[in-house]
Amino acid sequence: MIEKCQIFTPEINVKELLDAANYTNNLYGKKVIENACGDGNILKEIVKRYIKDCLKNMINIIEIKKGLEHDIYGTEIDKVHFAKCLENLDGIAEFYGIYDVKWNIFNQDFLKMNLRDTFDFVIGNPPYITYRDLDEETRTFLKEHFRSCRYGKFDYCYAFIEASLTCLNSTGKLAYLIPSSIFKNVFGQELRNMIVFNTVKIIDYTTRKLFEQALTSSAILLCDKGKVNDDIEYLDVVNNITHSIPKKSLMGKWIFGGYSQNSASKRRFGEYFTAAISIATLFNKAYLLKNYIEEEEYINIGGYKIERSATRVAVSPKSLNYKKRELIIFPYYYNNDTLIRYKTEEFELKFPETSKYLKSYLKELANRNSDDKNEWFEYGRSQALAHLNQHKLLLSTIVTNEIKVYDLPKDFIPYSGIYIVSKKRIPLLKAKEILESESFYNYVKGIGISANGNSLRITASDINNYEF
Ligand SMILES: C[S@@+](CC[C@H](N)C(=O)[O-])C[C@H]1O[C@@H](n2cnc3c(N)ncnc32)[C@H](O)[C@@H]1O
Repeated sequence: MIEKCQIFTPEINVKELLDAANYTNNLYGKKVIENACGDGNILKEIVKRYIKDCLKNMINIIEIKKGLEHDIYGTEIDKVHFAKCLENLDGIAEFYGIYDVKWNIFNQDFLKMNLRDTFDFVIGNPPYITYRDLDEETRTFLKEHFRSCRYGKFDYCYAFIEASLTCLNSTGKLAYLIPSSIFKNVFGQELRNMIVFNTVKIIDYTTRKLFEQALTSSAILLCDKGKVNDDIEYLDVVNNITHSIPKKSLMGKWIFGGYSQNSASKRRFGEYFTAAISIATLFNKAYLLKNYIEEEEYINIGGYKIERSATRVAVSPKSLNYKKRELIIFPYYYNNDTLIRYKTEEFELKFPETSKYLKSYLKELANRNSDDKNEWFEYGRSQALAHLNQHKLLLSTIVTNEIKVYDLPKDFIPYSGIYIVSKKRIPLLKAKEILESESFYNYVKGIGISANGNSLRITASDINNYEF
């Protein structure tokens, strides 16, 4: 689990991080901790700045050594990286003629440490591990010990941010390189409530990729325990624009872009249309038919036959973009647009060949984490099916440069992306117009979570909450 987060900070960003914290001069006597220090990329620069600043202030080598042993702290859970870090720090100290420093660097789990000291600075790039990748024991530990992790699908870094704020003294500063998703994730709300008070600055790298492997974009979060400002200074690094964001405008997701929702005289998209996430079979390998041969009454897939009447056309934003024709087994039917579920015997009798085919995946189908009352041959989730049998629009959850909206006939089944149907009989053409407008795109730029370079991830509730 821990290996997943061992991505170290490039030198240029280390410098930006330390500059943001103002870790620049008069450093003697100021306590600093890097609480997930890896090989010491950040600590190396801290130690360099510390020694140079001391020398500039005419502090002698013996005192500097004492200072290093008193002021500089680090923790790293991984033995190998911990050892490498000590070696790196010794190398720097020795370069300045300082030997045998007894470093306060610990090979420990920072979240379980119970440090008694408080610090003037916490500077670092903590581990990010998504909820999905956290083991059960860690999830339980975090839920029990950190307010920011009490509910929902938190990230490991939430606990680090919370613990870092706790170990600052009353004028201490936190400068942390974090995934910018923390500003917008639904489950980051409690964390945002905790940090908003002391956040003074956000340096947002937006589309600039700092780490090759990472999926979300990065930002520097700067908190100052000694300050409670009304505004946050926000810097968009890519466009080199700084602006001031009133904290009282930051509710729900933190939106930094030019778009601001002004409720006066505006209408909520969700009042007129429903945006919802597509169907989820929870095992597309069985249901989705990609490389098939069409026969008269059957669809032939890998030697199995599927009754044609058990299938529908399946679409995703990707398949529509590449104009690929796909089918999906649809083990339901509609009666006057009301979804009807087959009884098992009924389904097996009506579609004996499809049943035979699906049974070849019986073990995998049974292992799905399905809704409670679903039969073995049904989709894992049935939520999206109720409103599906009507004219609808489809768009991707990932927006890159433009918003593509596809028109879908009544009987097409979207298996990925967000689909939109009309409430109150307002023509879908109006929804299409709204979603393709510049104003909606600006909203997405503000509210979307950066995913891989230029792309932004949006949710169905982002669309429903849009005001036009
Ligand atoms: C993203 S890396 C950053 C390393 C370093 N801060 C840097 O920027 O170069 C995160 C580091 O945290 C360490 N780590 C993960 N969980 C930890 C924990 N509970 N306590 C201390 N270190 C931890 C990992 O082994 C990894 O080296």
